[in-house]
Amino acid sequence: MTTPNAALSSRAAAVMPWKNGLYGHMTTASLPSGYPQFYERGEAARVWDVDGNSYVDLMCSWGPIVLGHHHPDVDAAAGAQQALGDVLNGPGRPMVELAELLTDTVGGADWAMFAKNGTDATTICTMVARAATGRSAILVAEGAYHGSAPWCTPRLDGTIAEDRGGVERYVFNDLASVEAAVQRRDGDVAGILVSPFKHDAGHDQELVTAEFARGLRAICDRLGAALIIDEVRAGFRLNLGGSWDDLGVAADLSAWGKAMANGYALSAVTGTASLREAATRIYVTGSYWYGNVAMAAALATLKVLREEDGIARLRSAGQRLRDGFAAQAEAHGLSINQTGPPQMPYFTFEGDTERRRLRLFAQQALANGLFLHPGHNWFLSLAHTDAEIDRALEASEPAFAAVRDQVEAGAVGA
Ligand SMILES: Cc1ncc(COP(=O)(O)O)c(C=O)c1O
Repeated sequence: MTTPNAALSSRAAAVMPWKNGLYGHMTTASLPSGYPQFYERGEAARVWDVDGNSYVDLMCSWGPIVLGHHHPDVDAAAGAQQALGDVLNGPGRPMVELAELLTDTVGGADWAMFAKNGTDATTICTMVARAATGRSAILVAEGAYHGSAPWCTPRLDGTIAEDRGGVERYVFNDLASVEAAVQRRDGDVAGILVSPFKHDAGHDQELVTAEFARGLRAICDRLGAALIIDEVRAGFRLNLGGSWDDLGVAADLSAWGKAMANGYALSAVTGTASLREAATRIYVTGSYWYGNVAMAAALATLKVLREEDGIARLRSAGQRLRDGFAAQAEAHGLSINQTGPPQMPYFTFEGDTERRRLRLFAQQALANGLFLHPGHNWFLSLAHTDAEIDRALEASEPAFAAVRDQVEAGAVGA
């Protein structure tokens, strides 16, 4: 019998260019079998696929869902604004209120501007930095993802060498490599772009060292270049005031997206007063960028995060999950390497270089009702209550057992 997911996949494949009908990061083409491509709905910490299976959702739509699917306050704010109007001839009150809220909340931010996707925001940051300095190079960490525009998309097909000409690479947490990149460009550096921690897909995560964060700040100050923090993935999960606030490091420009509007399409750039004039000189815009609904949703989202001690709750939910994974792995004699902040956890199995154990684990977790991705960090939301984390751990237990069985059978490495 053809399932609804399979039927939609083949209908999509007939009228869209890709094998399973989907492009980009959400394609299931490279995932183990069993992953659904199409979804029916989401509610709090759960998602349902079109075949009617429900999962505890640890991907949170790849980050945007920070309060839980269909958060009532956010949907009420968005609904009320929708009734008034969304995309009009210009923005309404929510944009100004949101810019006020962001400049109040984000350390060092004196102004804000808005767009739709994270890629818009990172691209705007590079433009402001170049407009401000009159220089060309943006230093970017090896392997880091900053979006899918020609200057940063991970695949080269469809781009030309000139698209990447303004990018110079360094190694995350390695100041000497940053200095070497500066030298290669003979000081012609407009900005240094960096994510709050290393969260490259397919790798263990790596927290930033205080020395590196402060060192980048010092190099930017010395060069008169902009320190640009790409907060698109981690923003508003680690610290509402900016992910490096605890380290005492403020960005000149920050790119925000994903979590800021709990799933409504919105991104933002915040910047310091010294870059305000440069921001007025670049020309960027979009038909939907000033939509009021997403901005009303963002106001409600940030309010909940602020009033409900969101960051601490995300951290403790992630820690409960992490402790549970650690205990289960140990009980099955498996060694796992848990990396990244608890709010955005990830683990790999020791020595599992081809990720065979991790893929088996993810596939078995899925079959037991836990949705996570074997090659990308996971996300917590405020809807991940203790009960939901415990439900997630009920699903991970047989997944660890399956990995142990296959390891013992010699099927997925020693
Ligand atoms: C760190 C980072 N920067 C930029 C982007 C691009 O954001 P978007 O997909 O909204 O364009 C992403 C998306 O995953 C991201 O994780």
